[in-house]
Amino acid sequence: MTNATSRRTRTALILGASRGIGLETVKQYRADGWRVIATVRTQEAAQALQALGAETHVLDLTDANAVAGLAWKLDGEALDVAIYVAGIYGPRTQGATPVSQADFDAVMHTNVWAPMGVLPAVLPMVEAGHHGAGGAEAGGVLAVISSRMGSIGDMTGNGGWLYRASKAAVNAVLRGVSIDAKNATCLTFHPGWVQTDMGGAGAAISPQESVAGIRRVIAGATRADNGGFRNYDGSVIEW
Ligand SMILES: NC(=O)c1ccc[n+]([C@@H]2O[C@H](COP(=O)([O-])OP(=O)(O)OC[C@H]3O[C@@H](n4cnc5c(N)ncnc54)[C@H](OP(=O)(O)O)[C@@H]3O)[C@@H](O)[C@H]2O)c1
Repeated sequence: MTNATSRRTRTALILGASRGIGLETVKQYRADGWRVIATVRTQEAAQALQALGAETHVLDLTDANAVAGLAWKLDGEALDVAIYVAGIYGPRTQGATPVSQADFDAVMHTNVWAPMGVLPAVLPMVEAGHHGAGGAEAGGVLAVISSRMGSIGDMTGNGGWLYRASKAAVNAVLRGVSIDAKNATCLTFHPGWVQTDMGGAGAAISPQESVAGIRRVIAGATRADNGGFRNYDGSVIEW
């Protein structure tokens, strides 16, 4: 490790950071002294993140033109960590119940189509980042917050089957990006069942615990982990 490398401020990009897991991710990287770039959808959310010391960009991640604008603004950045967090659940169906086209479009656009737009734009910046102790190793970590509900091999229930299908699809998207990656380590995560607007107050773990776990796994990740599906505690999840 060079002195220059050991002195660099680490940089994280958090895509979808207004609430829940995304907001907590910004808080923890900032508390750790990282430079944080975050995207949100409203000026109010941007101001709240700026108060935490984050640099903000206001955009809807399903807006392809806005994503192209973000890529242009971030061109030349070296990202040590980039995480696609944004997600919606859609209809809380039980069993194999048809869903409306409007619900299908909304869930698939946010959970699958938007990552297919923004991850390729961000990958070169993550390739230019670093990982490992003190940022010694070439290539950052590119992560998606998916869900265990997207695991086909692990599926024992069929609640929220549109959401399940979307998370299975985004896992395939992340795995595809991992094959393109030359130095970056690409991971898809189950964050646990987390106390957020989506997870509800009765969920199993706090955002603090979930994000601390995800950050620990990211910090310890090496190229050998590229293309993996991990729980927030680091254990491997079946596809
Ligand atoms: N909570 C859980 O138990 C749990 C379990 C498994 C997986 N996950 C996954 O974890 C991720 C975060 O979930 P959460 O629990 O933190 O949910 P949340 O509290 O409902 O927050 C969802 C976040 O996604 C953002 N978002 C949604 N659509 C967006 C879009 N088109 N463009 C930009 N941002 C958008 C929201 O922004 P706005 O404030 O602007 O709406 C908000 O910041 C999701 O991908 C979710 O599927 C959560």
